[in-house]
Amino acid sequence: MSKKWYKEMSVYQIWTRSFCDSNGDGIGDLPGVYSKLDYIQSLGVDGIWFSPIYPTPNADYGYDISDYKNINPEFGTLDDFKKILDSAHERRMKVFMDLVINHTSDEHEWFKESCKSVDNPYHDYYIWRKGKGKNPPNNWLSAFEGGAWEYNENLDEYYLHVFAKKQPDLNMDNPKVREEVKSIIRFWLDMGVDGFREDVINFISKEPGLPNGFPLPVATGVEHYKYGPHLEEYLDEFRAVQNEYDCFVIGEGPMTSLKDAVKLCSEGPNQKLDMLISFDHMNANCFMTDWIKTPFSLRKLKSTLTKWQNAMKGIGWNCLYIENHDHPRIIERYGSLKYRVESAKSLAAMYLFLCGTPFIYQGQEIGMTNIRMNSVSDYKDVMTFNNYKLFKKLGFSDKRFLDLSFQANRENSRTPVQWNDSENAGFTTGTPWFNVNDNYKEINVEAEDKDPNSILNFYRKAIKFRKTHQVAIYGEYNEYDKKSKKLYVYERVLGDEKMLIICSFAEDGEKFTAPEGYDLNKGELVLSNYELNPVFDNSFITRPYECRVYYFPGKTAESEG
Ligand code: GLC
Ligand code: CA
Repeated sequence: MSKKWYKEMSVYQIWTRSFCDSNGDGIGDLPGVYSKLDYIQSLGVDGIWFSPIYPTPNADYGYDISDYKNINPEFGTLDDFKKILDSAHERRMKVFMDLVINHTSDEHEWFKESCKSVDNPYHDYYIWRKGKGKNPPNNWLSAFEGGAWEYNENLDEYYLHVFAKKQPDLNMDNPKVREEVKSIIRFWLDMGVDGFREDVINFISKEPGLPNGFPLPVATGVEHYKYGPHLEEYLDEFRAVQNEYDCFVIGEGPMTSLKDAVKLCSEGPNQKLDMLISFDHMNANCFMTDWIKTPFSLRKLKSTLTKWQNAMKGIGWNCLYIENHDHPRIIERYGSLKYRVESAKSLAAMYLFLCGTPFIYQGQEIGMTNIRMNSVSDYKDVMTFNNYKLFKKLGFSDKRFLDLSFQANRENSRTPVQWNDSENAGFTTGTPWFNVNDNYKEINVEAEDKDPNSILNFYRKAIKFRKTHQVAIYGEYNEYDKKSKKLYVYERVLGDEKMLIICSFAEDGEKFTAPEGYDLNKGELVLSNYELNPVFDNSFITRPYECRVYYFPGKTAESEG
């Protein structure tokens, strides 16, 4: 397994709007982030990924960009950004930008030009087509808002948007568009940025002819662009520029199969991405989308993670995450509110020690939870409004929709970060742009910082252990007790150095016996979420959501001290 800096790092994801507000307008901003760099550094992370911070009309909170070479004025200025960049670098932290190039905002200059006439030089920057009679060019549906085509009367043409109407898809087949993308890449890398998280990057090449798709409730047609014919070629083109710099590239890949992920991430001269954000392991309590709930299945979670771990072994690298701005909080999904602290720690131990680069989403490190809204009008997101319409059609009452939303909505993870127990959780001195979770008096950074047994301090210890032990980074992964519906058990092995990770996902006790070759009493218990840790006969009965991380230094590490 080749050693690379990006494999050894942990990354903190910031969704700026809800992170920290510096000027009392209720909106998180870059000076707010700057003021929290000490805190971020205190987590032990090596990098920050910013969800989009470019100018945007906020149709999709920044995932609709109207200017790729500037900063959203709600968040600050380019100088504010450079200040963060410099300070992060002084702290030996990297900074990664979100690169959203499947689509722009409809308020981007290119799109405005594109609408002016069919001869406009920018017209072909987007995917415009004539209708079929009175109908759109094909049956594709957008992920967010009904049909994927929007009619422009002036031009008597439709433009494609696989997300919201205000997010027209770029025509990546146009070489000029690819030149623009490369120029954006250079712009940020020249400034000193260390890499990109490439948004829905597997969608950028559409099948020629744009054939009709297999009918689905949303995203009909996705099979014609989720791994299009020119995807690899375009990624190679971008990568060639990125390779001129020491740059990290992670792609978001909704609906990418493991086979395709291996193709994109295989190390070597043709490597396209350093790793891929897969959605597979996020489906252990739902079917295809967070909105179609199924009971949580630990077996499903384990087998998915193990499949990805094994497939990338010696070939590529995994991205490890359990939360981001697109999913509800993890505690309610795979853990337990009743055992919030215990289960948050068990989940942390479970994923931070897999083989891959861990990403931690703001608020996850203090165990923030979902928010119950009293009214649909409290929500802010285009996807919520679309889902509301869909579920209304299915006969859902508002109350039933709100109940489901409390479980399923991605907005659950977008509430302001809870810094302390003062008004608005210390997020703003003004009126927050989005509801603050009522539980901020108990769940907040300040309180957890002081408590040695907090989730926050557990994360710090875990991140530090990973960083200082090569076995946690490069060790081989093997799973045990695969059939267990309550325990997730795996080891990491590097030479004669070993780790054994045992995580319970159940309230009731389960007897765990160490695998052959392990003597628990000889291991160093480096992390656990209970105070007393009895072991008899190399076994113990787990307590609710108990986790233990044992470390066996082996002779080499021991003699090195
Ligand atoms: C990605 C982003 C998500 C956004 C979508 C459209 O999935 O993570 O937040 O809405 O792309 O850009
Ligand atoms: Ca602000």
